[in-house]
Amino acid sequence: MIGVKSEEEIDLLREPCRIVRDCLAFVGGRICAGMTTKEVDTLVYDFIKASGAEPSCLGYYGYPASACVSVNEVVVHGIPDGRVLREGDIVSVDLCAYKNGFHGDGARTFRIGEVSPEKEKLVRVTEECFFKGIEGLKAGTPLYDIGYKVQCHAEGNGLSVIRSYTGHGIGREMHEDPSVPNYGKKGTGPRLPANCVICVEPMIALGGWRVKILPDGWTAVMQDGKCAAHYENTVVVREDGVEILTL
Ligand code: MF3
Ligand code: CO
Repeated sequence: MIGVKSEEEIDLLREPCRIVRDCLAFVGGRICAGMTTKEVDTLVYDFIKASGAEPSCLGYYGYPASACVSVNEVVVHGIPDGRVLREGDIVSVDLCAYKNGFHGDGARTFRIGEVSPEKEKLVRVTEECFFKGIEGLKAGTPLYDIGYKVQCHAEGNGLSVIRSYTGHGIGREMHEDPSVPNYGKKGTGPRLPANCVICVEPMIALGGWRVKILPDGWTAVMQDGKCAAHYENTVVVREDGVEILTL
């Protein structure tokens, strides 16, 4: 069941989403070579707490941190630790904030200094995939049109779409219906109702799309060891378009 939110609920959602947006910008201004992924997580924890919100990821099914910090071949759910960021890395930071009874969710992939042209393209195309995915999106759009558009843009640029993770609905829970895949067939899936709130989050790879989970049970890495990128926003579907709450 795809839930819909009242205007009052959407107004309550705005604040955690603003905190996610501002926290991602704050991290983006500080992340640099020499920093550990654990230090990135501390920035996120402190920022969210100072904003009067809670880091939704911390303790979620036992997840041990406030952010997922995923370097290069790690696609998502990188657990912050002593890994040191180096010039040329790409690092996705994914975080959720809980306030007013609602969760906001967003992710960016940051470049550490100068990155190779292929990583540069990967990061750029992944962001573009988000905007392609929501192009023309409004109440009544078939759900899998989003993934269809993401997939066309990624594969049209010689990149591949991760299959085993998807976007999702969000609200009082961090993950609600529906799942929002980044691949699909045009014109299929349930039609999205006005005032449903979803996270659109392309996860795109330079090589193949196959992923494996490390023994920690979380860290998702590309099987071929090639880089992946991630870009995510929380979006309200409206009668005439979308409202992006984390931009
Ligand atoms: N923010 C992630 C998402 O987009 C969820 C992180 S999983 C967690 O779905 F365990 F870290 F919380
Ligand atoms: Co997220």
